[in-house]
Amino acid sequence: MVKAAHSSIDPKNNTQVARQDYYDKISKFGLTPAWERLRELIGTEPKSQCVPAIWKFKSIKAMVLEAAELISAEEAERRVLLLENPGLPGKSRITQTLLAGLQLIMPGETATGHRHTASAIRFIVDGDGAYTTVEGERTCMSSGDFVLTPNWTRHDHGNTTDRPMIWLDVLDVPMINYFETMFCEHLDRQTQPVILQDGDSLAFFGSGVLPDRAPGTPNHSSIINYTYAHTRPILNRLQQAGRVDKRHGARLRYANPATGGWAMPTMGAQLALLPAGFKGESYRATDGTIFVCVEGQGLTQIGDTNFEWSRGDIFVAPPWQHYGHTTDNESVLFSISDRPAQEALGIWREIT
Ligand SMILES: [Fe+2]
Repeated sequence: MVKAAHSSIDPKNNTQVARQDYYDKISKFGLTPAWERLRELIGTEPKSQCVPAIWKFKSIKAMVLEAAELISAEEAERRVLLLENPGLPGKSRITQTLLAGLQLIMPGETATGHRHTASAIRFIVDGDGAYTTVEGERTCMSSGDFVLTPNWTRHDHGNTTDRPMIWLDVLDVPMINYFETMFCEHLDRQTQPVILQDGDSLAFFGSGVLPDRAPGTPNHSSIINYTYAHTRPILNRLQQAGRVDKRHGARLRYANPATGGWAMPTMGAQLALLPAGFKGESYRATDGTIFVCVEGQGLTQIGDTNFEWSRGDIFVAPPWQHYGHTTDNESVLFSISDRPAQEALGIWREIT
């Protein structure tokens, strides 16, 4: 009789019921079966929720300026419109690891001093003459300048000109919050004392020399502002020397001069000249990359979609998606990603 009763039950269904009973039982003890999630956890290649996207500066500039009518820089602390990836809505990020936003500072305004464990860069998109002070050096910023505020460095901003200024902020905030290691501290004063001359750090650390007794192997660059006036002519020299990559053009990497490594440990930035008539070969890598058009105009195919860009436009290529640049006229693209962090962890890959 017992044998007959068992044979009438679907063994497959019986197994599933038994497994579910087991899963329910062990869940009360904080346990869950890995075998039910392995394919989701360990895929055969990267799959990103991040999608290709572009922000056309001409279309959004007026909205960035409109923010000044609604909130002061002082009240906002940082008046920034975040560039949210359409594949990651509500997550305050442009890729899974990076936050990007357009910061507006109006004439006469200051953005008060603080420091945090997140590292930040500014890339100047529109305007000239506002300043950022970092660890005692007040640097006057112009279009195309690449400005660092590394992890735990004191920084404040101000605009003593008569025109608004807009720059791109990129921070490793999602990465730092993933590790749950965010600290932030406000300075006692609204702006920090200026104890260095504008350009001191570029002269001290970016000229093939180092001050005597300079720190041996700092994990970030000591240069505050890699000015466009300094780096742009180097692109021409690279091109004239024939150092034009078939995928990336004549490209330089913003380096930590003390080590030759990336300027910061979590974010790596580059500047590329795409010659007139450039037809870049397709490329992909595991670092989702943010691009800014500094000069010219062109088109980038990301996956199956073409994105046309011109000066001030910002676009993003997700991790492991093919992209290739095409230009009619000479153009310059700035780019930034989490590649240094991936390299440090030994997980960065590219396919050329
Ligand atoms: Fe900050």
